[in-house]
Amino acid sequence: MAKKVETIGVLTSGGDAPGMNAAIRAVVRKALSQGLKVKGISQGYKGLLNEEIEDLHPWSVSDIISKGGTILYTARCAEFRTEEGQDRGAEICRKHGIDGLVVIGGDGSFNGAKQLAARGINTIGVPGTIDLDIACTDYTIGFDTAVNTAMEAIDKVRDTSTSHERCSIIEVMGRNAGYIALWCGIANGAEDILLPERYDYDEQKLINNIINNRKRGKKHHIIINAEGIGHSTSMARRIEAATGVETRATILGHLQRGGSPTCRDRVYASMMGAYAADLLAEGKSNRVVGFKNGEYVDFDIAEALDMQKEIPDYMVRVSKAMSS
Ligand code: ADP
Ligand code: F6P
Repeated sequence: MAKKVETIGVLTSGGDAPGMNAAIRAVVRKALSQGLKVKGISQGYKGLLNEEIEDLHPWSVSDIISKGGTILYTARCAEFRTEEGQDRGAEICRKHGIDGLVVIGGDGSFNGAKQLAARGINTIGVPGTIDLDIACTDYTIGFDTAVNTAMEAIDKVRDTSTSHERCSIIEVMGRNAGYIALWCGIANGAEDILLPERYDYDEQKLINNIINNRKRGKKHHIIINAEGIGHSTSMARRIEAATGVETRATILGHLQRGGSPTCRDRVYASMMGAYAADLLAEGKSNRVVGFKNGEYVDFDIAEALDMQKEIPDYMVRVSKAMSS
């Protein structure tokens, strides 16, 4: 039977993502509008274990929808991976009267949420990561802002790269996921895209591609490299030595995680945050919010974590056709 909740907590966990503030705001205001009390937990599970918990009011989330980062701060917490840490986390929730919790983060954070749900805290996950690598949802909060930030930066690198007739290797975020790399590869018209999911470590293919393109008169050569492959600087040195084409590496890094969220991120974050508050108000637990086939939906956390997400093959083939 659904358990009625009175006070919910909200936290952000793992890597931050633009739009997390919009999600926090939506959770707070939607829950308050349904008569629930809301507490903010700072610094993810680390802050939970340190009892960094305070009441949130409608005005606590004023003026944050346009801000990047997360007003609740975020952290990674090794202790929460242990059963002792998870038991203590659930006890601390109970001590503070928190009987429902919204966890905004990625798959790792959802694993923690699953553990709290198993310990009697009604817990709902909201997908927040720039990487787009959560299988149960077509959209993750932060991706749109990050990919637009990266695209604009790559356009700028491309200007100078073309002027100097260089090859540029531009490294974008994504330790295990190539979505930012693939989207930028298409949006920026890259000659080569290196995805962690598909990389075959055949550098000679890149070298041949650069040499052939030069012969055909191409003035630039943009390679988008995902962080998960990395080694952009040493790759640039090897490519320059092998091709004779001046080659530079640019690592975009954390600038991709900051900045004011796009309209799309603000709206999806608002909808998903509100949806999570509604699930808690209905007494639901152990669910992850997603956006699938044009609809906001929710899944059992364990089932969501078992789902697999593949880099879309057709997008990869189109990207190759565009650069040939
Ligand atoms: P993300 O949520 O973006 O995937 P991480 O993988 O870094 O980020 O996870 C964020 C935090 O979630 C970790 O620091 C840890 O506290 C918690 N967490 C991750 N995996 C687990 C797990 N298997 N069990 C419990 N908590 C976990
Ligand atoms: O949030 C996801 C992500 O940006 C990944 O793409 C990246 O690998 C990771 O976080 C880096 O996190 P940090 O530098 O904060 O440890």
